[in-house]
Amino acid sequence: MYFLGIETSCDETAAAVVQCADAHALLNQGEQARILAEEVSSQVRIHEAYGGVVPELASRAHLTNLPWVVEQVLRSSGVRFSDLTAIGVTQGPGLKGCLMMGSSFAKALCLAQGLALIGVNHIEAHIHAAMMDNQGLRYPFLALVVSGGHTEIVEVRGLGRYHIWARSIDDAAGEAFDKSANLLGFDYPGGAALAALADTCSGSPFYLPRVMREAEGFSFSGLKTAISVLIKEQESALSYGEGQTKAFIAHAVQEAIVEALCHKLVLALRQTKARSVSVTGGVSANRRLRQRIKEIAGNNAFFPAASHCMDNAAMVAYTAALRYGFGQRDGLDMAVMARWPVEDLIAPPQWALEETRREA
Ligand code: KG4
Ligand code: ZN
Repeated sequence: MYFLGIETSCDETAAAVVQCADAHALLNQGEQARILAEEVSSQVRIHEAYGGVVPELASRAHLTNLPWVVEQVLRSSGVRFSDLTAIGVTQGPGLKGCLMMGSSFAKALCLAQGLALIGVNHIEAHIHAAMMDNQGLRYPFLALVVSGGHTEIVEVRGLGRYHIWARSIDDAAGEAFDKSANLLGFDYPGGAALAALADTCSGSPFYLPRVMREAEGFSFSGLKTAISVLIKEQESALSYGEGQTKAFIAHAVQEAIVEALCHKLVLALRQTKARSVSVTGGVSANRRLRQRIKEIAGNNAFFPAASHCMDNAAMVAYTAALRYGFGQRDGLDMAVMARWPVEDLIAPPQWALEETRREA
């Protein structure tokens, strides 16, 4: 079976062709999905000048990029439209205009080629990216989803069965990295650049508060104020071009964010029955975070491949394959959902039926 995945929820236009056996084989018989081709066209250069994603510009860029990105993955995989089983497309959450570009494009292809359409939740796709890349990761597990828009610890009980254990009440972890990077003078998005500078030192004389350690959920907005105060205090060192001071501050920022995430993860592991942990979303590329989570969960820590941490379409095609295998089919009237919390998802029909039987 061949699945085409399309992702346009934010500022990346992505397409991928994934080959896999049916969903039952993928989940129960240790079959692996094969990614035949994937392409990501990033719009970072377009939005850089504005210091953030401009929705209207993002939608227009998707419209320009979609045809060649899809054409490219079909050409390099050697898969024709007539070989495809279904098209999986990100239905939400994300920027509405951006989601509409991807879903309209997918619907037109499905209509013209007589293919099945599968709407995919972007967060469910991030959660399953770790499963796509690691044969050893099986339900149930805890997923730490850390991206530019989301920070959540999700108890993953099965396909479409999610319970939120903790979530950010304000900024997302990626946003916290990006805003801190901006205060330190990095160009947008800046998270990865700040992390690279932080990794140049083994310690830091500065300490930033690990916000909301005991309370429910995450909160990163206070970190901005603490960093602004620290930068003000260190103004003269920074303005005299003392690169080391900037690196020390970057190190303190990274430690504060990573430790806030890990503290909650340890509590979640203690309170749930989950043994395995997966970390997904753009921030899961962070080296220090990976190191700390390996210390916490050992061989039960799972990460997606580096190219599948950020937004990509392979994870969308893979999740579509799982849902297709358990009977999901969407109509051409499928509406995009700018807001679509992952816990609102329901299991595809056959999975739900099998689960009921298993539990009876
Ligand atoms: O999942 P993603 O590609 O897009 C969203 O759905 O948001 O995540 C992008 C986020 C950005 O905030 C970016 O700065 C952050 O992931 N990021 C990192 C690193 N690489 C990307 N943050 C910290 N360390 C990194 N190495
Ligand atoms: Zn994402």
